[in-house]
Amino acid sequence: MSNFSYEFTRAITRLPAPSIVHGLRAEDLGNPDHDQMLKDHAHYVLTLKEAGASVTELPTLEAYPDSVFVEDVALCLPEVAVLMRPGAPSRLGEVIEMAPVLSGVYDQVLEIKGPGFIEGGDILMTAKEILVGLSSRTDKAGVAELAEMVSRWGFKLREVTTPPGVLHFKTDCSLLDTETILSTKRLDATGCFENYRVIHTADGEEAAANSIRFNHLVIMPAGFPRTRDLLLNEGYEVREINNSECARLDGGMSCLSLRF
Ligand code: GLY
Repeated sequence: MSNFSYEFTRAITRLPAPSIVHGLRAEDLGNPDHDQMLKDHAHYVLTLKEAGASVTELPTLEAYPDSVFVEDVALCLPEVAVLMRPGAPSRLGEVIEMAPVLSGVYDQVLEIKGPGFIEGGDILMTAKEILVGLSSRTDKAGVAELAEMVSRWGFKLREVTTPPGVLHFKTDCSLLDTETILSTKRLDATGCFENYRVIHTADGEEAAANSIRFNHLVIMPAGFPRTRDLLLNEGYEVREINNSECARLDGGMSCLSLRF
């Protein structure tokens, strides 16, 4: 596949706005604490920098409560950035805000036009392929439009499914290295990772699956000690970030940045 790299140099993040208390959520576990979220976000950005990222830190967007979750609005490939078409109507305007940022970085920025929908949280890129999980936010038409768009750079796209009740495909998995995926058992049971080495999150620690690898570091949510120890025993260098506030909005480590 074209120019896939395991070395990232850049990340884009956006500060959480006070309106985050109105963010989307599947279940009401109480509003996130904005001050705590700011602290966690600062720690997250610092850790990306420790991993070697040059981080573009975007300002708050009060009009868009979920705008801290920048991953959902774009796919950053080596050759091209693709603006997504979020399946959540309240998030569509976030794409317009991200467009000029990516135009300042990429020579080519394309856009999913619809009628389908697709969010970045449903996309996992590996050395072999781009996996896209159908979900409540990503439909077949969105996947088909992305597949056609990226085929010109030689990217192979495979449509998979997200387990019921799980917001995004990457809520339940992350890429750890060229061949290894951290996954919940429920997602792995769908058979989507047959050609990969899979490490399962510990039982009861499914939320640890939404981790990221940025160069030599695996950045994972804090509070999942058995999964952390599994990763440490496998030789990964791990950093833990408090995710208590983002978790109230079904958000996690991958949602908080675009990485390329
Ligand atoms: N709260 C994140 C989302 O639902 O998109």
